[in-house]
Amino acid sequence: MTQPWEIESFLEVRDNQLHIDGVNAADLASEHGTPLFVFSESRIRRNIERLRKSASVIDCPLKLCYAAKAVSTMGILRAIKDAECDIEVNSGGELWKALKAGFSGQQIIFNGTSKEIWEIELAIKSSIYAIQVDSLYELELIEQTAERLGKKANVSLRLVPEIETSTHSALQTALLTSKFGMMPDEAFEAFRKYRNSPNLDLCGIHLHIGSQNPEAHAYADAFQMLFESMLRIYNESGIKIRHINLGGGFPVNYLPNVSQESEFPSKQREMFAADFEPSDAVREAWASVKAIAADSGAADLLEGLTLLLEPGRSIIADAGICLTTVRNHKERPVSETADHRLLTTDHWLLTDVGFNNLLSTATYKWYYHLISAERAGEASDTPYKLAGPLCDGGDVYFDVEGKKRLPDHRMLPESIEPDEILAFLNAGAYTVAQESQYNGRFLPAVVLVRQDGKAELIRRRECFEDLISTDV
Ligand SMILES: Cc1ncc(COP(=O)(O)O)c(C=O)c1O
Repeated sequence: MTQPWEIESFLEVRDNQLHIDGVNAADLASEHGTPLFVFSESRIRRNIERLRKSASVIDCPLKLCYAAKAVSTMGILRAIKDAECDIEVNSGGELWKALKAGFSGQQIIFNGTSKEIWEIELAIKSSIYAIQVDSLYELELIEQTAERLGKKANVSLRLVPEIETSTHSALQTALLTSKFGMMPDEAFEAFRKYRNSPNLDLCGIHLHIGSQNPEAHAYADAFQMLFESMLRIYNESGIKIRHINLGGGFPVNYLPNVSQESEFPSKQREMFAADFEPSDAVREAWASVKAIAADSGAADLLEGLTLLLEPGRSIIADAGICLTTVRNHKERPVSETADHRLLTTDHWLLTDVGFNNLLSTATYKWYYHLISAERAGEASDTPYKLAGPLCDGGDVYFDVEGKKRLPDHRMLPESIEPDEILAFLNAGAYTVAQESQYNGRFLPAVVLVRQDGKAELIRRRECFEDLISTDV
């Protein structure tokens, strides 16, 4: 291994070129064009296995539900299903895709703050494992819909645990000020009110503390809060909860090469470089709740329980690489002093991937590490200003607002010129899923490198007709 971002048998430098599961990235780029997203089935499976280790540190069954919102291209969903992982969806559309990909109702859980009747109907008719309810109003809608359909809906109530982590403010989902879930008191009231409903099976409680959580300990806090709620529900309504859902949010280390990124803002490092074993967090959470349960004489409440996790990023982020071609370059004088004295010259690289493909770069000032795919073994010792192709001043890979939330420059080998292929690493989560055709740009192709090393096209690049296919 010559480079800090290399991962044996997955991301490797061979003959100075980036290889993904043994496939030359530059060859894929010339076959399918760029931008191009390349996913590794072996890495997806390895990530699922890593999460599954949590099953061995708890005394109850574990149900792992991949958060489809991270990316729901059909080829990826099928790969997830083939790896025997269940699924969490966030809309009727994702639910439909999950069913189409072959997931059974019992493999599906359904989140969301604004569910429509048709979505609730589809969930109930498909007998999904749990509709995760966001409010008392929604619970009423679900009950009425189930009654109309002559069915019983499995529901799990999403609680607001008021746990704050040091992730990005937009990725906090467990605070009173966030838009998700219901107050515990409302949930307790719901359990009392609906305990004898013939149309609702109140089988679980749920929370999600946010995404890219740097603190492993937050899962223990969350589980304790859920257990206390479970105990109160049992005492007040006699209902024994059958599943507890701890959500997702396990972090991915986006800074595999942080020592070289000397400009990387120190405030952001902790979040982007967060790294812990999910099973360590789950072990700590389980042990603390087991002790509390024993102390409060309620150990039997843990019997017959299933623990759910709904990770997205930690399954798919590092399994996806985004290849891009440098399409233009220029030099710009830079003055950094008040008297506008010329200090230096910036070398700009303009790529063919923009925030229409990597939306979080604009919305969250997200960082994706960049390397040269064609000179992957060379030292990245030259600073470049990097920008995308969009006619939008915010389509840049530094902090255009000047708040220094991103490094000003990207470090790459010297003398990068148009036509060189670059690769954004850890680009699998919340990228393909959020793409748009902004500026009339085609959605790029997506390739999945299968376990046997064959690169399979799972989404074709769009063409002119796709740009107008829904216009009437
Ligand atoms: C309810 C819910 N579950 C699971 C996830 C997946 O989170 P992550 O991709 O960080 O694992 C999210 C994303 O924020 C979410 O909102």
